[in-house]
Order: sequence, then C-alpha cells, then structure tokens
Amino acid sequence: MKFTIAVLPGDGVGPEVIGEAVKALEAVGHKHGHAFEMRHGRIGGNAIDEFGTALPPETLALAKGSDAVLFGAVGGPKWDSPNATVRPEDGILGIRKELGLFANIRPVKAYPQLVNASPLKPNVVKGVDMIILRELTGGLYFGKPKRRWTTSRGRRGVDTMLYTEKEIARILRVGFDLARGRRKKLASVDKFNVLATGRLWREIATELGREYPDVELEHILVDNAAMQLVRNPARFDVMVAENTFGDILSDEAAVLGGSMGMLPSASLSDLPSAGKRAKGVGLYEPIHGTAPDIAGKGIANPMAAILSAAMMLRYSFGLDREAAAIEAAVEGVLAEGYRTQDIAGDGGQVVSTSKMGEVIVGRI
Ligand code: IPM
Ligand code: MG
Repeated sequence: MKFTIAVLPGDGVGPEVIGEAVKALEAVGHKHGHAFEMRHGRIGGNAIDEFGTALPPETLALAKGSDAVLFGAVGGPKWDSPNATVRPEDGILGIRKELGLFANIRPVKAYPQLVNASPLKPNVVKGVDMIILRELTGGLYFGKPKRRWTTSRGRRGVDTMLYTEKEIARILRVGFDLARGRRKKLASVDKFNVLATGRLWREIATELGREYPDVELEHILVDNAAMQLVRNPARFDVMVAENTFGDILSDEAAVLGGSMGMLPSASLSDLPSAGKRAKGVGLYEPIHGTAPDIAGKGIANPMAAILSAAMMLRYSFGLDREAAAIEAAVEGVLAEGYRTQDIAGDGGQVVSTSKMGEVIVGRI
C-alpha cells in the first residue's frame, strides 16, 4: 500500500527523534511492501523564525493533504517571552483544532525491563498498562473569553472552561469503545464537586454508561486521580479526562513508564474499529516535548517517537502487523540491554539517539 506522511519535526529534540522514527517507518515499509512518501514541513519556533507564524498555511495544507502527520515537538526558551505575540505552541494547538483532533490517546506501559528506571518503587509500577484519553480541542485551551488586560486596579487574565454536551459525549464514547477492546474498565475524571463542566461531564458519563453495560464505569475526582496514579496505577485500564486535566495527568503518568522518552501518542478525529483505518488525518507525536536542555546532543530517547510511528500504522493505516513489528523491536532492544541516558537507571548499555534508532531498525 502507499501512504503520504506529513513529517513535522519542529524544535528542540524533535528533529533528532523524528529522524529515527522516519527510519523505522522506512524499514517497515521495505520489509512489508508499503511505500511511505514523506513530505517535510515547518512548525513551531523554527516556523516563526522563517515565516513569522508557528503554523504556516503551507504546513497546514501539507497536513490536510496527507494520510497522517508525524509530529516532533514545538517550543523553547528562545520564543518564551511572556509578552510574545506569536508562540511555538500555537503551531500544535492550531493543527489539532484545524484537523479536528479531539481524541488524544496516550498509552502508558511499564515495560518489565524498565521497572527500575522509574523513580517509583518497582512494586508500584509493575503491571501498569493503561491509556490516558485526553479531550484535545475544548476546555480551557480554547474557550472564549481568553485574554489578559490591565485595569486601574492591576492586571487581569481570564480563561474559559467551556464544554458542550456533544464534545463531552464524543470523547467519552471513544473512552468506552477503547475500554471495550481492553479490560473493560473506564475511569472518568472530573471535578464534579466544584466545576459546572465537571457536573455536566459526570451526568453525560452516567447516561452513556447505560449504553455500555459491559464496561465498568468509575467516576473519579481529578485530585484523587492524580494521587491514585502514583499510589496504585495498575488498577487503571482507560482513564478519560478533559483537556487540561488530561495534559497534567499524562505527564504524571509518564513517570510510570520509566521516562517521558517512552510515551507515544495519537490524536484522532475518529476512532477506527479494530483493523480499520481512521477516516480523518491522524497526528502522532511523542509526548516528551522539546527537552531544550538536551537538544542537539544526540542523546534523546527516540523510542516515544518510534512508538508513535507504530500507532500511526495501527490507527491511520490499519497496519496492525507492521505496528506490532515496531513494538516488538522496541521491546527486543530493551531486553538486549540498550538504553538511552534517560532510562539507564538499572544499568545496560547507554547509546545515542541514532544508535538506538539503528538497533531498533536492525530488529525490524
Ligand atoms: C502536550 C503539551 C502541549 C499541550 C503544549 C506543548 C501546548 O504539553 O501535548 O501535552 O499542552 O497540549
Ligand atoms: Mg503536556
């Protein structure tokens, strides 16, 4: 089969890790007889430097005209002035909104080989295999009014947490459907005791739950969810949360996987049924961000980016076997003892970004 992929490496370690993910995709294509046409575009800080905007129209058109987007990371100290009128983050937020990517799937897995790499005790992280499903195009990130201004009594700012019934129901449905294909447990996160949106969220979750009698639905307050994630994470299967809560909880959950460098993600505008392809253009990105402290050193962990490429094969292209081949290669090199510096806690052979990519490609 033939697919076109928009490759948007972005800033910081983005280009380094995406380079390895591209190699992994090419290796899979070669082995299994698929052609992936890679089209590169600019986004984020480097797009601001060149075009004055974080999401140039060319890049958006490229993404819309492709079968899927492989995204690195955006941002960095260079563009971080609080008074900046354009921000690298507008690139990723804009593309999520434009492509209608409301469902953000962030799988968190504690690889047995890495239980000692996590700062948490091995008996806490052992057996963790969950998905954080984050609503991605609503809530505080996009609600209006959103602005800051100056009054005679000082500066003010406002953000708006706004959700419609339709937005809440569609992300919850993705959660129920994902849980159905797994251990059939859905933890719905809200702040029911304080927020109006939280009460609406819980009400809709309860209503939808009646349509999914086979899925065990649990309501959990976001503060409690944050605690349970480090206390007894293995009890979770699928956890669904609104945009800001999901952003925070998924960084917290990254600790369970040993390192942010291990966590891939998929952002979708629809959930394909098993073995089918998603209809919209999906976006795949490692969740670790630009990591400016290690950018350009060739030491970043490319596994999150490579595992994101595997998610692309599965969700956007319907290539389950090929996705599994990448995942098996990652587990294989971990078992062989290859480590990047972020996961070197339990010893093993510490290698560079490109060497890690090379051994994974070797296994594919
Ligand atoms: C993420 C990131 C982004 C977000 C930033 C870079 C805008 O933290 O994908 O989790 O907040 O969504
Ligand atoms: Mg985040």
